[in-house]
Formats: sequence, structure tokens, C-alpha cells
Amino acid sequence: MVAVSRCRVCDAPIDAFMSFGRMPIANGFLTANEIPNEYFFELAPAFCGACGMFQIMEQPEPEKMFHEQYAFFSSTSRHMQAHFEGFANAVLGRVLAGRADPFVVELGSNDGIMLRHFQRRGIRHLGIEPSINVADVARGHGINTISEFFGRKLADDIVAEHGHADAILAANVMCHIPDLPGVAAGVQRLLKPDGVFIFEDPYLGDMIAKTSYDQIYDEHVFIFSVNSVARAFAMHGLELIDVMPQTTHGGSMRYMLAPKGSRAVSAAVGDALAKERAQGLDQGGTYLRFKQNCEASRGLLMRTLEKLPGKGKRVVGYGATSKSTTVTNYCGITPDHVEFISDTTPIKQGKLSPGAHIPVRPYTEFTRQYPDYALLFAWNHATEIREKESAFIAAGGQWIVYVPEVKIVS
Ligand code: SAH
Ligand code: TMP
Ligand code: ZN
Repeated sequence: MVAVSRCRVCDAPIDAFMSFGRMPIANGFLTANEIPNEYFFELAPAFCGACGMFQIMEQPEPEKMFHEQYAFFSSTSRHMQAHFEGFANAVLGRVLAGRADPFVVELGSNDGIMLRHFQRRGIRHLGIEPSINVADVARGHGINTISEFFGRKLADDIVAEHGHADAILAANVMCHIPDLPGVAAGVQRLLKPDGVFIFEDPYLGDMIAKTSYDQIYDEHVFIFSVNSVARAFAMHGLELIDVMPQTTHGGSMRYMLAPKGSRAVSAAVGDALAKERAQGLDQGGTYLRFKQNCEASRGLLMRTLEKLPGKGKRVVGYGATSKSTTVTNYCGITPDHVEFISDTTPIKQGKLSPGAHIPVRPYTEFTRQYPDYALLFAWNHATEIREKESAFIAAGGQWIVYVPEVKIVS
């Protein structure tokens, strides 16, 4: 475990404004005999008043989270597949068009959900994916992937072997890497002078507006804003040239960066910065209100869950998401509240959820006998799931949701 008392980006002293308590590894699904050795750390977020970076104080070592048994396979969601096709097409059209023999690098390429669109077109590409099991899926599809953690040193090795990159891409991974300065320096070294770095991650503005505190878990060492990204990368000669809000993962932001002065800066950057100031994202008081909102959300969710079983109702969790580890452990949700969690990912099935130890079962268990209520842990996939689950509603089932507020809906 690595605990900091200074900002990982600007080295100013920082302090937690709240604690979610003892937390296990969010994707650490386990068997009953692994319970005695389950790993815990304190999940406590801080806001750096000096550079605006939202971060957690303690984080388990990366090797504890990203390894040969990593439980998150990107391609399990059809909507995410479509999303990454769109992302790839945007890069092909806006960045790579007209370039001779371009080279694309993706950090955290997982099972190849995005790189497959470059590979299919015969474009030179390289995925950097330390979790070997998910990387093997990509390699099995012919997608060039190396299983390493990206940083300054690896950037130099890639340049030596493949040359500089026209585009470096990353989705839902920059916020995972604690050594952000090292990654930024690596990106700067790997990028061509006219290259671009495009990444997206859950957005702080959405998290604050929706009280979606479950975005905070071990892997998410940072929750970025336009302000904090612009400042962190400016220290490494990279300029934020465009931003594009995304609906994925409950509200994300796509950031486009380039070597300073190489490209025009879109008006969208200034607009987003003004919006963040209006929302108070640079004010400490905003985070104290967020803390109160988290506590209120927890209270209401537990009161809702506690009165249901008394009426003889069955409650099942839907989606054993990494985010749900924060919710179950912070709120104190146990197998007494939730019979099991339905999930389509084979590696999670038959295991227990981290910390709360709620059984995870195959999706067929959900459809075999619909529960009265489904607690929508995978709320970020709500559109896809609600389209798919009309039979559950027709059978009288209802959803319990907690983002942006706790309510029961059908
Ligand atoms: N881009 C995919 C996967 C996101 S999950 C998507 O959006 O669905 C984050 C991925 O980043 C994991 O597969 C993890 O193994 C990988 N990762 C973690 N640290 C990394 C690092 N330092 N360099 C490259 N990849 C990393
Ligand atoms: P994520 O929120 O980290 O993307 O994880 C989503 C989890 O939810 C993943 O374990 C797969 C699961 N899931 C289902 O079980 N059914 C679904 O329809 C969807 C979209 C996801
Ligand atoms: Zn800072």
C-alpha cells in the first residue's frame, strides 16, 4: 500500500476531506477460503487546493490490482464496443487521415476493444496492457499487445523499437496510474511533434453533480477535471487543445492534448473551465457538501433496503461492478440485504464480492426466477440494461437505483 501526504502531481501537502472506511480491492472477487487473507486499505479522498487534482490518499500497489486474474473485460458491454468504435473512427478521421504509415499506441488496451479497429485496417498499433489474462484475449485476435506498466522507461523502449507515435490513446486508465508525472513524461517522449494524445476518464464534474461516489475506488487514484488535467500535463510540455464530454461510465470527459503550440486550442477548453468554476470544482466547500451528500445517499439507500426484506421481497444486485465495492462496503450492504449479484463475467461467477461477500452468480440465475427488486450496481450501463430487461419489468420487477438519487423505478 502506498499512502501519500503530498499531492502526486504538484507535491503540495494534501489531507483527506472524508473517509469511506476500510475497503478491499474493488475487483478482488474471492472464494470463501480466501476471506482470512483479504486485503484492505482506507479509502479516503483529498482535493489538492494548489493544482486542483482530486485523488485518494492510499492506494494498493498496482500489482495487487492488475495481474493475470484481472476481472474486468472491456468487451462485455455492447454499448462500450460501439463507443470505442466511435472513438477509433474519430481518431482515424481527425488525426490519422492522410498520414503515411501511422503508428497508434493505446495504454490499458485490455481485450483490444478499441485497437481492433486499427488492426483490422492494417494500421501499425501497439497495446500496453499489464493484466496478462485480458491482454491474451487481444493477442488471440492478432492485436499487438505487450504486458507491461506504461511509464517513462517503457516509452523510451517503444521509441527504440517502433519509433514515435502519431496518436497515443487511453480510456479509463490514466486515472488508474499513480505516477501521473511519469506517464506524462513518457507520453511526451513517445509522441511525434505533430502527434496527439487522447484520453478519457470519469469526470469530476459529473461525480460531484450526481453524488456518484462509487467512482472512487482503489483503481481510480485520480478523478480528473479539465482544470487538473490542463495543469498536470502543462508541466510536461503538453497542452490541452480540446475536450469532449462523454456519457460513458456515468459521465466522462475526453481530453485531447498535443505538444505545446503545435495546434490551435478549441474554445471548448475555456468554456469547460468556466463551467467548472461556476460549479465550484476549485472550492474546498464543494467537497464538504459532496461528503454530506454521500452520507445522505448512504442513509437513504440503507433505509430503503432495510424495509424491503421485511415485506418478504427478494432483492438481487445487478452487475458486480468495481464501483459496487465502494457502495456495498461504505453503506454496509450484506447478503442479508442482497441475495446475490448477477453478472455476465465468467471469472466473477461463483465468487464472493470483495469485502461484503455477497455471492456472484451467472446472469441465468437472475432470469430463471426474477427477484422483486434489482439493485442496479451497473447504473452506468442503465440504458443498455433497461433495454434488455423489459421482461423483468413486465414480470412486476423494479429497479433500485442510487445515482443521482436513491429511488425505486420500473
Ligand atoms: N481501456 C479499457 C480498459 C480500462 S480498465 C476500457 O476503457 O474499457 C484499465 C486497464 O488499464 C486495465 O486493463 C489495466 O490492466 C490497465 N493498466 C493499469 N495500469 C496500467 C499502466 N500503468 N499502463 C498501462 N495499462 C495499465
Ligand atoms: P463496469 O461498470 O466496471 O463497466 O462493470 C460492469 C459489470 O457489470 C461487469 O462485471 C459486467 C456486468 N454487466 C452485466 O452483468 N450485465 C450487463 O448487461 C452489463 C452491461 C454489465
Ligand atoms: Zn496538487
